[in-house]
Amino acid sequence: MKIVERVAEVRREVAALRANGSSVALVPTMGNLHAGHMDLIAAARRDGHTVVASIFVNPLQFGAGEDLDRYPRTPDEDIEKLTAAGTACLFMPQAKEMYPVPLAEQTAVEVPRLSDLHCGASRPGHFRGVATVVCKLLNIAQPDAAYFGEKDFQQLQVIRRMTKDLCLPVTIFGVATRREEDGLAMSSRNGYLTTEERALAPTFHRALRALSDQVSHSETAFRELESQCAAQLQSAGFHTDYVSICRRSDLQPASRGDVELVILAAVKLGETRLIDNVTVA
Ligand code: PAF
Repeated sequence: MKIVERVAEVRREVAALRANGSSVALVPTMGNLHAGHMDLIAAARRDGHTVVASIFVNPLQFGAGEDLDRYPRTPDEDIEKLTAAGTACLFMPQAKEMYPVPLAEQTAVEVPRLSDLHCGASRPGHFRGVATVVCKLLNIAQPDAAYFGEKDFQQLQVIRRMTKDLCLPVTIFGVATRREEDGLAMSSRNGYLTTEERALAPTFHRALRALSDQVSHSETAFRELESQCAAQLQSAGFHTDYVSICRRSDLQPASRGDVELVILAAVKLGETRLIDNVTVA
């Protein structure tokens, strides 16, 4: 696996792969790779792409007081995993390479409305940071395809929308959430959980699955079901940020009669923010 740090280098690598007839997929990550990330690489390779991965802990998507400084950084292990998974090239830029100008002066990509809901409401500026860095990474690598996890469902919709609105010549693929055996969605932030919190964490996913059953089988209004689920999580020991039954297409609150629904939710367990989602059958 070729490891590069400069924009010009990754462009050269991708151009060389393309010249060899390869179709190139980008898998953007913030590192600390787990099996969920490796599923993205595997999906891209299964679809016939040569994989370029990136590792960059993007300061623009972290708010003041969030975990930018303590976000887990494990480059050596990540390089081993990416190599074993058959990644052709890893782009690992320094912050200065991605943001040569002060962050406050950086041109940004705004996906209005979709970015303001749910996680966006609790983390102002977060999706602006995500859209901006993903747009830059897509422009830098110029891949044919890019792969993202469905665990970050709102992020995936923001990226799809940005790609469409800006006519970026890339196909975006979502890959199913990888879960621990007890149902907890894999996330680099799970490493922050204490032993007691880790034991409680799967209750979050179980509550969303139960809510999904209620959406399908009860007559109760969606807003009432959301409040009940949020209250259950709260009394189980979580701090509930939001639980929302919404339309997959635009993430707006759904009503009975709407189809293609997803339940999005975020909680805090101690100091750790967890997000998850369940599509409604
Ligand atoms: O999902 C992530 O790891 C990040 O938000 C992403 C897409 C790599 C952008 O920094």
